[in-house]
Amino acid sequence: MEKPFSAACERNREPILNIMKDVISRDDRRLLEIGAGTGQHAVYFAPAFPWLEWHPTDVSANLLGMKLWFNEARVSNIKPPVRLDVSKDDFPKLKFDLVFTANTFHIMHWKECKSLIKLLGHRLREGSRVMIYGPFKYDGLFTSASNEEFDQQLKLRDPLCGIRAFEDVNNGMIKNGFELVSDYEMPANNRLLVYKRLKFSK
Ligand SMILES: C[S@@+](CC[C@H](N)C(=O)[O-])C[C@H]1O[C@@H](n2cnc3c(N)ncnc32)[C@H](O)[C@@H]1O
Repeated sequence: MEKPFSAACERNREPILNIMKDVISRDDRRLLEIGAGTGQHAVYFAPAFPWLEWHPTDVSANLLGMKLWFNEARVSNIKPPVRLDVSKDDFPKLKFDLVFTANTFHIMHWKECKSLIKLLGHRLREGSRVMIYGPFKYDGLFTSASNEEFDQQLKLRDPLCGIRAFEDVNNGMIKNGFELVSDYEMPANNRLLVYKRLKFSK
């Protein structure tokens, strides 16, 4: 098998890393990456936070490909990748200070996005942060013509995929115990949403 490659990861990694440097602190111990894809993001980001354990996950079909990246890169704080299908699996039984997920909300069906949001609410402790990167719609409008085209292409392949409404994601996160800390505008009409888990009220 050849190492999988994502050109988008190469383009977006630097601006994402710049924001991660503000979000991730020295007190953070563990980050869970959901839908880690090729593993390129983990290979680029994890060395910038050597005190942090980086736990990459994805559906089983992607684990072999990312292992090829990890075996080659030998980044000591990247943990072996594990399967996490948000509609079937729970998080690994560990406490995570951070969750990062990039370009997953428009690929997952909305039902799966809701499962992911619920999982985050159940499993993260007060103060944990969630970083969600990707394109979103606002007030029912795409933020660019290229995002609208992208949405059409996604729906041609799978009618249940598509760029999500920021308001739906945000309402789901709030309902599950989070507050929006920042909504960063990113290159190429993407966003980076940062949420913080509030105190459990139940
Ligand atoms: C467009 S790729 C993004 C990969 C990587 N994060 C990146 O930015 O290049 C979408 C990812 O979401 C993952 N994904 C789709 N459905 C999923 C699910 N139900 N649970 C977990 N991951 C899922 C896919 O396997 C894929 O790796």
